[in-house]
Parts: sequence; C-alpha cells; structure tokens
Amino acid sequence: MASYLQDNQDRFLTELIDWLRIPSVSADPKFHGDVLKAADYLKTRLEEVGLENVELCQTAGNPIVYGEKIVDPSLPTVLVYGHYDVQPADPYELWTSGPFEPVIKDDKIYARGACDDKGQVYMHVKAFEVMMQNGGVPCNVKVMVEGEEEVGSSNLGIFVRENKEKLKADVILISDTGMIANDVPSIEVGLRGLSYHEVEVTGPNRDLHSGLYGGAVANPINVLCKMIASLHDENNHITIPGFYDNVDVLSEADRAELNQVPHSDEEFKQSIGLPATYGEEGYTTVERIGIRPTLDVNGIWGGYTGEGAKTVIASKAFAKISMRLVPHQTSDEITALFQKHFASIAPEGVTVKVHPHHGGEPVVTPTDSVAYKAAADAMETTFGKRPVPTRGGGSIPIVAMFKSELGIDTVLLGFGLDSDAIHSPNEHFGVFNFLKGIETIPLFYQNYAAAFSK
Ligand code: BES
Ligand code: MN
Ligand code: MN
Repeated sequence: MASYLQDNQDRFLTELIDWLRIPSVSADPKFHGDVLKAADYLKTRLEEVGLENVELCQTAGNPIVYGEKIVDPSLPTVLVYGHYDVQPADPYELWTSGPFEPVIKDDKIYARGACDDKGQVYMHVKAFEVMMQNGGVPCNVKVMVEGEEEVGSSNLGIFVRENKEKLKADVILISDTGMIANDVPSIEVGLRGLSYHEVEVTGPNRDLHSGLYGGAVANPINVLCKMIASLHDENNHITIPGFYDNVDVLSEADRAELNQVPHSDEEFKQSIGLPATYGEEGYTTVERIGIRPTLDVNGIWGGYTGEGAKTVIASKAFAKISMRLVPHQTSDEITALFQKHFASIAPEGVTVKVHPHHGGEPVVTPTDSVAYKAAADAMETTFGKRPVPTRGGGSIPIVAMFKSELGIDTVLLGFGLDSDAIHSPNEHFGVFNFLKGIETIPLFYQNYAAAFSK
C-alpha cells in the first residue's frame, strides 16, 4: 500500500486540485452551477475508484453524492460523511493567490476548501482507491458527501430521516476536524452545538439628521451596542437567564484530564497575533473552547459606513449573533431563551426583531468504542504517537443527528490544523496531512474489520 501511495501521490494531488478549482460555494446562489459541477466531479471520481451504485441524490437543495461497496453483508459497514460545499472566499483581496486557483506553496495546498472539507473528503476517495488496488476493502463502505454543510445541512437532515435503511451502518467516519499539531496527533471527541440569530433594532421611521434629532431619540446603533454589551457580565459569563441551566458540569478530575492535552497559551496567542487571551473567568483556554458555551457577534451593521463623515442617526441596526452550545444544552431551548431575553432588554423607543437561523446540537463521541480504538491505533501507527482525545470547539450539526436518527456513533478522524485558516483567506491544507490521511484511513479499516471478526 505504501508504494502504491508513493507512486500515485502526484496524481492524487492533481485530482484534488482540479476539484478545488470548482467554486462550490453553497451560501451564494451565484455559484449554484459550480456546486453541481463539484458534485458531478466527485461522482465520477467515486465511480473510477470502484464504488458502486454511485448516484446524485436530489434534495430540495444541493445533491448528496452517494456510493457504496458492499463486500459481504455479514461484515461491518463504515459510513463516510463529508461535504463538498465550501465557505464564500471573500474578502478576495486578502488572498495571496486566487481562492479557486489552487497552488502548492511550502508543501501546502492553498485554496478555499483545501482543508474544509474537499481535501479531507478526497483523502477518503484515494484511501479507498489504495485499498481497492491492494486487495480490496476489508468491510463494507458507504460514502455520503453533501453540498450544504456550510449552510446548515437542513436537506441532509431530511435525507437521513427518510433513508434510514440505505444509511444503515455500524459507525460513521468523518474527516472534517483538526488535530493539535503534525507531531501531536489527536482525535476530536466533542463538537459544540449552535444557535444562530439575526437581530434587527428599529428606531425612527427614517434616517435622521443627528444634530436636529440626536440626543432626543433612541439611536438604534447605540442601543444595539448596549444590548449586545449587556449579554456578558464583568466575568464574561453570559447573562441570558437560564443559559447555563443544563450545561454539563465536568468533575474536577475530568477537567484536570482535559487540561492535560498539549496546549500552550503562549503559542496560541502568538499564532493569532494577540497579547492576551480573553474569556470566561475561571476556565482555561482549552475549557473555554472545548466544554463551555459562548456568545459571539459575527457581524454588525447599520448607518453610514462610506467615505468621510455623514451626520446621521440610522433608522435600523443589525447584528448576527451565534451561540456555541455544549452538552446538554439544546439549540431549541437556547434559541427560545435568547429570543425572549433579547426582546426583553430593548429600551422603550426601539422595536426589536430576532430571526433565528439554522441550529445544531452538541455531541460527545465515545472513546471506549471499537471504532475509536481502531482510529487511535491507526494514527499511532502512522504518526508514531498515540493520539490524544480533544474536545473541539467547532460544529458539525449532522453528527448529533446521526446518533439521534440512525443510532450511530461517529469517529472524527480529522487531519486539519487550526492554522489551516479554514473559513479565512488563504485557507490551506498540508500535503503532509493529505498524504497522512490517505495512509491512516486504510489502517482504520483494517483495525476496525479485524476487531469485528474477533
Ligand atoms: N468542518 C467545520 C467544523 C469544524 C472545523 C469542527 C474544525 C471542528 C474543527 C464545518 O465545516 C463548519 O464550519 N461548521 C460550522 C457550522 C455550520 C452549521 C455552518 C461552524 O462550526 O461554524
Ligand atoms: Mn467542514
Ligand atoms: Mn466549515
């Protein structure tokens, strides 16, 4: 297998680069044609490597690419999930090369989607090829790659509920997360949930002269800022009543263990150009990201933002606000609490609207399962070091649904790094990481199938 990978790695990279060239941005309708092209490209590649019954499953949104290789119904089945859609690439001017003109620089592939998630999905496609060319796959494989992860996976949710038999599997395998460092392998065992809102504060019925009216009317932007500021107290606790009621409280022993993971605040600060960390009082950086819920403004706008000065009180102000959730918060519960609280803190003189967007549930994946052990053993072989379990801060909403709807646990076998700049300009993925993934995944299958046959 090692020599097959070596002999073919240049082609593997070229194929990935061709896929990355297709701007499959799901958030922007302008790219709809490209989204379909990216799905089609993947379908062809899946057929080429020997997956069977490959199809584009139509949904109310973007198609789901599906394929399978059932070698023996008595063997276990691994369902691989990933997404071929990518985040918008803007701001374009901050990219050093075009987001959809992939280049390899300093052993890294630069392109939107290089790490999140096309590069990581493609590791699975090529790992499958490697196995097929070297004796076949040791268990059944199903592959399902969606095109709407970055916009909330709502159609995948429906698809999963309607296709329980088709998606029957013993474990879900996903490469859409990261690890600590290339010499510190790790496996994420937790993802946070999400509650996301757009808020609108309306004051006067038109934009006003800020001299003629200023001081005598509620300025929606001033008010919005004040309302947002009040959502955290002086210790950076979130002030929404009931927000923490269901938060899973870890024992001191569990917290101590969590803080064992290799992490340096110095490196953390340095990597993002910060003089200090900032967050909820009483928790470490690892805890703030992994096990504590958060509230962040993702965008805020209103009034005059053009050249020069315009003396105006805007009629409206807006913000996008997200909350990351941890077990056992639910997005419905937090959404309701947020809506009620945000409306309640509005002063007289403005009206407030809260529009909830897509949400997602938090999840913790088991570390005592056959599949987790197969993944940890595989990484230990290829990295020469036992991976440590970590609690990640990001969200993949479908993972909780795989558990609740299909009853299947997930292994998050991710090979990205925090420094890969996913969702940011100059997203990249290490060639080392891409190839390590292709090397590790077949070992996962071997270990997993072997453990099952015992
Ligand atoms: N792959 C990421 C999530 C991720 C990245 C988890 C790194 C752990 C480590 C995924 O594509 C993503 O961006 N998810 C969104 C949520 C989605 C509903 C838009 C997120 O976390 O903001
Ligand atoms: Mn992703
Ligand atoms: Mn993403």
